[in-house]
Amino acid sequence: MALRKVTIEGDEVLRKKCKEITNINDRIKLLADDMIETMKKESGVGLAAPQVGVLRRMFVAEPEPGELYIMINPVITEEEGTQESTEGCLSVPGFIGLVDRPMSVKLEAQDIDGVKHNYEFTGFHAVVMCHELDHLNGILYVDRSKQTMTEEEYEDSLLETDVNEEVDI
Ligand code: NI
Repeated sequence: MALRKVTIEGDEVLRKKCKEITNINDRIKLLADDMIETMKKESGVGLAAPQVGVLRRMFVAEPEPGELYIMINPVITEEEGTQESTEGCLSVPGFIGLVDRPMSVKLEAQDIDGVKHNYEFTGFHAVVMCHELDHLNGILYVDRSKQTMTEEEYEDSLLETDVNEEVDI
């Protein structure tokens, strides 16, 4: 396993649509391992393949410590409700944004063995999955954000309002 370099906004690899993974070979398995290691090292709760420069439909996520997902060819099949999330992104360092996301989603994806699973996520878990899936379509949270601010501005705003703590997804 090895750490991979995280791509930063401005790199065009973050703006392209990723291709399906048709063969979960050793290279893809190594990529998944590296992405998990990189996500943990960077203290993120999610990391998508284009964030390490690979245009394939895969992301890893750990919305709760120890609750790890490898999502291959993920598709959101249903969305319900709305919530306002406070999001950061390892590829957009130093900024925080307020984004409207579904309150819950149904998601279908293959695991690292190619087995298809159907998931249901709500709340913060749903935010993480939507944010990561957007990366596979070349979309960053700043494209959807109603308000984007620097971390300093965000911390100042916390003194005045009661907002959730930010995380990098
Ligand atoms: Ni991100």
